[in-house]
Amino acid sequence: MHNTPEFPMLSAIVDDLACQGWSQQAHFLPAGLVSALATECRRRAAEGELNPAGVGRGAAQEVRETIRGDHILWLEPGESEVCDEYLTAMDDLRQAINQGLFLGLEDYECHFALYPAGAFYKRHLDRFRDDDRRAVSAVFYLNSDWQPGDGGELRMFLADEREHDVQPTGGTLVVFLSGDVPHEVLVTGRDRLSLTGWFRRRGNEPF
Ligand code: OGA
Ligand code: MN
Repeated sequence: MHNTPEFPMLSAIVDDLACQGWSQQAHFLPAGLVSALATECRRRAAEGELNPAGVGRGAAQEVRETIRGDHILWLEPGESEVCDEYLTAMDDLRQAINQGLFLGLEDYECHFALYPAGAFYKRHLDRFRDDDRRAVSAVFYLNSDWQPGDGGELRMFLADEREHDVQPTGGTLVVFLSGDVPHEVLVTGRDRLSLTGWFRRRGNEPF
């Protein structure tokens, strides 16, 4: 299959990251793959595989629905063909970012996320106080026919007190520097599906 992202889009993302620290691309992957990923997310949610997301890391992790209300499932390679295609596309992006920005990104971790109606994720940075390996965040949306009144926007807080909202429309990819861009997910009015992940470099975590 030829589901790899086109070179011009990869280089646009790298350029955006270099000059503004974030990038938004519509139609990052073909519609057929987007809907297959959405089907996979819903199927595994129906089978009870998604769990309430935690806040914090390791033993300090706890579920706090006043901060975030999504349900997640971490992806492992080799579990499904469509998920592997997604991981392959993200590895292409990882290599493009490394070639353009010398960030030394070593791997990519990612999970499905399902926000039921009424859920949100309060303003935060994608970086733990004791672990700085997450360097670049990437969120890929899986929702068909999202309407402005459906809510669930990703709000990014940028330099000069500017804000940028992204509708979680299927096929849209948002990429940003994890340590630089605070963001939140506004209350969603309907189920909101995504694949959320982080490119990581070698960090200061103790062995
Ligand atoms: C996250 C997050 C944003 C989104 O999971 O850390 O900020 O738009 N997600 O789903
Ligand atoms: Mn986040």
